[in-house]
Amino acid sequence: MVKTILCLALFVSIASLGYGDVDFAKNFVSKSQDTFQTRFLEIGALGISGRNLLQLFKVSLVDVIRPNVRIPEARVSNYYDRVHDYLFRGALSLPEVCDPDKSVVAQLTRNVSPINIHSHNDYWRDLPLFEAIAHGATSVEADVWLVPNQNKLQSNGFALAVGHDENYLGPVHRTLDKLYTDPLLYMLNEVNCNKRVKKSNRYGLFYDSPDTTIYQFIDFKSSDSVLTYKLLMEVYFKKLIEKDFITKYNLETKQLEWRPITIILTGNYPTDMNIIDNNGKGYFNDTKRYVFQDASLHDIKTYDNSDNKSLIASTSFNKLLNECNISRVKFNLKRKFEDNEMNCLTSLIETAHSKNLQTRIWGGPEWPVAFAKQVWDIELSQLNVDYLNVDDLAEAMKF
Ligand SMILES: *[C@@H]1O[C@H](CO)[C@@H](O)[C@H](O)[C@H]1NC(C)=O
Ligand SMILES: *[C@@H]1O[C@H](CO)[C@@H](O)[C@H](O)[C@H]1NC(C)=O
Ligand SMILES: *[C@@H]1O[C@H](CO)[C@@H](O)[C@H](O)[C@H]1NC(C)=O
Repeated sequence: MVKTILCLALFVSIASLGYGDVDFAKNFVSKSQDTFQTRFLEIGALGISGRNLLQLFKVSLVDVIRPNVRIPEARVSNYYDRVHDYLFRGALSLPEVCDPDKSVVAQLTRNVSPINIHSHNDYWRDLPLFEAIAHGATSVEADVWLVPNQNKLQSNGFALAVGHDENYLGPVHRTLDKLYTDPLLYMLNEVNCNKRVKKSNRYGLFYDSPDTTIYQFIDFKSSDSVLTYKLLMEVYFKKLIEKDFITKYNLETKQLEWRPITIILTGNYPTDMNIIDNNGKGYFNDTKRYVFQDASLHDIKTYDNSDNKSLIASTSFNKLLNECNISRVKFNLKRKFEDNEMNCLTSLIETAHSKNLQTRIWGGPEWPVAFAKQVWDIELSQLNVDYLNVDDLAEAMKF
C-alpha cells in the first residue's frame, strides 16, 4: 500500500516536473546498489543547480531511499536530510578546499536573480532556507520558541526551536542553528574563503549578486523575550557576528554597514534599547548594533526612527485596511480601492519611506490565485510596497 502510494507520487511528480531533467531522473533512480556517496558524486557531475537541483532530489527521493536500503532515520525529513547532506558534502567527507565555484551558494543560486520577496513562514517549507534562496527570495522568516535544551550544546539550559505552533515543535533537529544559522555560517565561510580576493563587505548568498543582503526575520514567540534575545546574540548569531557576516549599525559614526545577513526582530521582541544595544554602547560593548526592529506599518505616523533602530516596517493587510477605515469584505468584492482609500494607504507607505523604512504587508488574500496576484500588483505598482510577502515562491518568481 505504502509502496503504491510512493510509486504514484513518483509518477505524478515526474509527470509534472517540466524541467527537462526527466530522463536523467529516471537513470538516476535506476541503479540499485549505489550508496548515497556515489549517487551524490553522480549528481555533482551533472552541473544542475538551483530549483532544478532541489526538484531532482524530490522526484528521485523514493528511489534514493529505496526499499532495499535501510531507510535512515530522518533528522528533519529524508528529503531535507538528503539535500542537506549533498549540498554540505557531509556524506562525501571531501577534504576542505577553498573553491567558491563549487560552494552551496553556487549550487543553489547560480542563474538566480535576487528579488524582493519575503518567504513567509519559511521554516515550514519542505526545505527551509534552501527553497527560498533558490527562488531568489531576499527575506526569510523563522518563528522561534524557547525550549528546554535537548542538544546539550547550548548554554542556559534552553534552545530556540523553530516552528509555527508550540504544539508542533521538533526541539532536536528543527532548531534555529540546524535550519538557519549553521547552514548560513557554512555557506558564507565557503564563499569568503579566498584570501586572494579582497572584498570590503563579504560575499553574500547570491552567486551573481554578492552584495545583496538577506533579511533574516526572527519572530519572537515565547513570553521571555529577554532570554530569547540573549540566546540569539550569545549562542545563535555569535559566530556569524564574529565573522563579520551580519549587517551592523555603527553607534559612533551613525553609519549602516551592510553585510550578507541582516537580522530583523519581529513578534514579541524586547524594545528596551538597554537590552537591545546596551543603550548605545553595543550588546557586546563594541559600539555596534546587530539587530533591527520590525516597525508597525499601520502606526507608522507616530513611529520614531530617528535613532535608526528599524530598517523595515510591516503590518497585516487587515490592520492596514482598518487604519484607513476600509472594509475588507467590500474590497474582496470590488477587488480595488477607491481613490480616497488609495490615498490613505499610499500616505502610510510614503511615511515609512520618509523614515528610511522599507515596507511589507502580510496576511493579504491568497486565494483565488488570480486575486492574490491582483493584490501583489496593487502593492507593487500603486502602493510602492518594497517586499512581497509570499507563500508560493514559484508563483512570485514568475510574477
Ligand atoms: C558590557 O559591559 C557591561 C558593563 O558596562 C557588562 O555588564 C556586560 O556584561 C558587557 N557585555 C558583554 C557582552 O561583554
Ligand atoms: C540615522 O541614519 C542616518 C543616515 O545614515 C544618519 O544621518 C543619522 O545621523 C542617524 N541617526 C542617528 C540618531 O543615529
Ligand atoms: C477612521 O474612522 C475613525 C472613527 O470614525 C476616524 O476618527 C478616523 O479619522 C478615520 N480615519 C480615516 C483615515 O479616515
